[in-house]
Amino acid sequence: TGAVTYDPGFMNTANAKSSITYIDGDEGILRYRGYPIEQLAEKSSYLEVAYLLINGELPTKGQLDNFVAQVERRTLLDERFKRLFDGFPRDGHPMAVLQAGVSGLSTFYQDSLDPFDEEQVRISAVRLLAKLPTMAAYAHRIAQGHALLYPDNRLSLIENFLRLTFGFPVEEYVADSVVVRAMEQLLILHADHEQNCSTSAVRLVGSAQANLFTSISAGIGALSGPAHGGANAAVMEMLDQIQAGGMDPRDFMEKVKRKEDGIRLMGFGHRVYKNYDPRARIVKKIADDVLERLGVHDERLELAMKLEEIALKDDYFVERRLYPNVDFYTGIIYKAIGFPTEMFTVLFAIGRLPGWIAQWEEMIHDPETKIGRPRQIYTGHAERAYTEMSERT
Ligand code: CMC
Repeated sequence: TGAVTYDPGFMNTANAKSSITYIDGDEGILRYRGYPIEQLAEKSSYLEVAYLLINGELPTKGQLDNFVAQVERRTLLDERFKRLFDGFPRDGHPMAVLQAGVSGLSTFYQDSLDPFDEEQVRISAVRLLAKLPTMAAYAHRIAQGHALLYPDNRLSLIENFLRLTFGFPVEEYVADSVVVRAMEQLLILHADHEQNCSTSAVRLVGSAQANLFTSISAGIGALSGPAHGGANAAVMEMLDQIQAGGMDPRDFMEKVKRKEDGIRLMGFGHRVYKNYDPRARIVKKIADDVLERLGVHDERLELAMKLEEIALKDDYFVERRLYPNVDFYTGIIYKAIGFPTEMFTVLFAIGRLPGWIAQWEEMIHDPETKIGRPRQIYTGHAERAYTEMSERT
């Protein structure tokens, strides 16, 4: 069937034509639908960015109000979800709980599973945007052994999420606009990143015409890996270990450079950015603001800054063009707000959801889409005859 191109990790293979996100890794540029990430992080909201990614244009006030109202009125989960979540072991990872929950949506919303019916897809997308934060909060509360709360739809999606997660009196977080704004900004920064591993998983599963919920649950599975979304938690674990072991940051960096036990400086390096990740710059600023506002002093922030300082001057990192990525400082902010480390990747999933939806819809509408089906280079045995059990050694 002709020669195939061997390209592990799809380093040079484009699987899609896409008009959603533009990245210039050499220049450190990221744009959603043409808008620079810096402007969106400063001026926009999570749901406005979701609208932009999915529909291609910024909404008018009327369009946004309507979209937000549709999402915010659907935050409630069917009671049976509580039993589903309650049935998992308390120490189960919240990403696994989230993935199972999203997968379960296909059983509750059988009226909106047709990938080719635009209205059904629209309502599925709204349901996902509304319910993922509620599921995320429940995954957290169950792990803590705390009662599940009902959404309060007088609150915005993000305020609701914070309240459902922490159970604090509404005023405490809602009044704290710095925290709410920081959450919005972090979600915006994660909202899309073209053909990353989880987005490619969403497209691949969707290319088999699986429904949107099932495709998104595949994305959540991919995101849970430590080389992808799991990196934000891995950064925190790394900082904790260095601190707990009383290790000198320089000694740790020497171990990284010697590739001892395969350790890497987590939160550093990127397949596409070979210059500073533009998201990391914004995250650093948010970290400063949130820690100051909450009056949190976290030595891990200083440790992270020290590691970055060493890396930026070290030949190993400079030659390989390794810079902090989006995950390097996010964990410190999440910790300051009160999230345990296991929840970090769940927050990334909420952030990435609009991008997954937009990319899935683009894939479904693209007449050039084919079922994802890579080739291989076979390295196994040539034909051989079946060996009877009695003759095997
Ligand atoms: N620490 C130490 N060395 C590194 C690191 C690191 N974080 N990242 C790459 N290298 C080295 C690697 O060992 C290799 O060196 P050599 O040429 O001597 O073999 C060289 O740099 C190229 O690395 P690679 O693994 O071929 O690069 P890649 O494009 O396949 O990997 C990456 C990209 C993000 C998986 C990798 O940089 C990494 O493992 N980073 C740490 C994990 C992390 O922070 N991931 C989050 C990525 S951003 C958010 C997301 O996508 O979810």
